[in-house]
Amino acid sequence: MEAQIKSPVSGNILDEIIEKHRGKPGMLLTTLEEAQEKNQFKYLPGETLAEIARKLHIPYTQVYSVATFYSYFNLKPQGKHAIVVCRGTACHTKGSKALLDDISTILGYKRDDDDRDSSFTTTDNLFTIKTVACFGQCAQSPVVEVDGVIHSNVNSRKLLKIVNRVKEEETSKTISYETV
Ligand code: FES
Repeated sequence: MEAQIKSPVSGNILDEIIEKHRGKPGMLLTTLEEAQEKNQFKYLPGETLAEIARKLHIPYTQVYSVATFYSYFNLKPQGKHAIVVCRGTACHTKGSKALLDDISTILGYKRDDDDRDSSFTTTDNLFTIKTVACFGQCAQSPVVEVDGVIHSNVNSRKLLKIVNRVKEEETSKTISYETV
């Protein structure tokens, strides 16, 4: 698949977003939230953060700290599907590290043991893999969330099935577009 252009939300689109939230409580948060939602790859590039800072007359560092403080915000392009592997103690004990390694292998990403980056996106932008400290569902560990759906007691076989199902759905969508 060809790399897609990662265009930032800017100009008039950003003006509209800012005007919609201006003067309301938490306007910086809601502005960032909508700017991220409107971005094709659901993230906030540096250009967007800088433009928001300029337009709101607040320091860039303030905007940047808000964007980095909340885990909801992404500073890197996101894949179409999100897989979140819990790395909390209970899930770790039940093998979540192995699941993270499995998912990297299944999706063809080489993860080093000292890989400090807690998230990665496949080159076709289909999947973003992230980790989380705890889902609060420790009794059902290990836990993996796929596109907002929690899967409990996950093992390698179950994980492979889930990923393959998502891939098959994507393939069938492509086929049905081609036959229209
Ligand atoms: S440690 Fe994984 S859900 Fe709590």
